[in-house]
Amino acid sequence: MTKEKKVRAEDLAKGQRAISVAEFFEKNRHLLGFDNPTRALLTTVKEAVDNSLDACEEAKILPEIFVQVKEIKKDRYKIIVTDNGPGIVKKQIGPIFGKLLYGSKFQVFGGKQGRGQQGIGISAAVLYSQLTTGKPAKVTSKTSKKKQANVFDIKISTKTNEPEIISSSTTEWNKDHGTKIELELEARYVEKRASVLEYMKETAVVNPHASFVYIDPEGQKLKFPRVTDKLPKEAKKIKPHPYGVELGILQRMLKETKARSLKSFLRTEFDKVGSGTADEILKNAKLDGKILPRLITLEQANFLLRGMQGTKIMSPSTDCLSPIKAEILQKSLESEYDLDFAYAITRSPSVYRGNPFQIEVAIGYGGELPKEGTISLIRFANKVPLLYQQGACAITKAVTSVGWKSYGLSQSGRNMPQGPAIILVHMASVWAPFTSESKEAIAHYPQIIKEIKLALQEAGRALKLFVGKRKKAQLAKKKQEMFKNYAGELSISLAELTSKKKEALLKTILKVAKEKYDAVQIEEEKKTKIKKRKTGAFRREK
Ligand SMILES: Nc1ncnc2c1ncn2[C@@H]1O[C@H](COP(=O)(O)OP(=O)(O)OP(=O)(O)O)[C@@H](O)[C@H]1O
Ligand SMILES: [Mg+2]
Repeated sequence: MTKEKKVRAEDLAKGQRAISVAEFFEKNRHLLGFDNPTRALLTTVKEAVDNSLDACEEAKILPEIFVQVKEIKKDRYKIIVTDNGPGIVKKQIGPIFGKLLYGSKFQVFGGKQGRGQQGIGISAAVLYSQLTTGKPAKVTSKTSKKKQANVFDIKISTKTNEPEIISSSTTEWNKDHGTKIELELEARYVEKRASVLEYMKETAVVNPHASFVYIDPEGQKLKFPRVTDKLPKEAKKIKPHPYGVELGILQRMLKETKARSLKSFLRTEFDKVGSGTADEILKNAKLDGKILPRLITLEQANFLLRGMQGTKIMSPSTDCLSPIKAEILQKSLESEYDLDFAYAITRSPSVYRGNPFQIEVAIGYGGELPKEGTISLIRFANKVPLLYQQGACAITKAVTSVGWKSYGLSQSGRNMPQGPAIILVHMASVWAPFTSESKEAIAHYPQIIKEIKLALQEAGRALKLFVGKRKKAQLAKKKQEMFKNYAGELSISLAELTSKKKEALLKTILKVAKEKYDAVQIEEEKKTKIKKRKTGAFRREK
């Protein structure tokens, strides 16, 4: 029997090392949405377009975004995304595209609504591209009319998670400002659900202020012109609300603050805390407001946290949110889908774990939507379509917990409803609680599910009214048809009884029936027509 050699701590130490985040995601790319070639293509487009929209909005520019997917050879595609955003300064191009977890949007405390939040999106796409093709990403960016554009070829050194600049130069670019990214990757192109086309269409619905041009691998050019020239309301950065802060974060804030006293720390670092509220918190925490924040012990920090939770504080500010707004959402939905009815609502802001959020729902019915089968559910978080992991999402949970039968759709048990309907749900939030880094499903926070459910029920009530009226009109038509069938016989019998001419009697009977049942029909059609005319001007060209 051979004696097995025992491994000592010293032996283990030889293999112990820090793992760079790039190495980690090189191995775990599924966590970032690159688990198969179809999804990788979509994720790459999505990360680039999300960034372009964010950058344009921050710079208050009406976005003009160009997307092209080119087939290089079988299972190999080139993706080009160009925007008219503010551009990226030369020094930042390297780390933005060549370093994971590098960005301007990540906020430990507070924050504002945006599409990006982690600082990982576009560099992950660069990593996937280099992993599958060995090629660098090409970035062209221009920040002002007077300057030339910088052109970089960038790779990521996975061992160190640092950018590797393969080449850099300048060029003339017939644009005042903007950014272009070109990535080659192993991918598969599909035209079914969760496709680039579906993503473009859904993105256009929730970004009515943006115009998009998409060229697919066949060379077909699809245009999505903007439906409004109004930029969405700017989301303002907010401080954290005391109710949403956890002990570790509070300790870090106490250490990092510039405030010289605990009272001024409370007043300056938190949302909705004025002098009176600060006094109240200090009283409840039994702490002296003059203490230097950095000297607060763990025990005192705990008291402070409990003091915050035990004080009545106004709800968080909501100017950090930028909802689409019901009226625009409805117009936008009608412009992308052929519908007989559309209705949208925007709920008032609410809060989960101290983070303000706002739910919007739109329902479309009839038109060219398929009459049979499950309704289409389109989900959005911060104006970004969520095309994967529908089953794991809080939005799906909320949709299936509503009793749709009472709102005019069919449903078996607590499954997805059936019928010619499209349901759109948008969650706007400072921090969207995604179930993973690939940002495809919203976590099941009860407050979020409740808000979505309330919004769905409100939209459902409007749908019920429409479906009810339509049923009434259909019934009237049916009755009219039946009446017509019997009118011939009726006129003969009446002619015998009254000795009047049967032709004249038939004419009178049909006239009465027409007047009676047409009235219902005309009323319904009139309503639909008015709605269509109002929105006709907003229809996007395709
Ligand atoms: N087209 C662009 N124009 C201007 N700035 C950009 C552009 N693309 C990216 N950036 C900048 O690069 C940063 C990093 O982008 P990246 O997609 O990696 O992360 P993010 O958008 O911050 O978060 P997420 O990981 O959630 O996407 C952004 O925060 C932004 O500051
Ligand atoms: Mg991003």
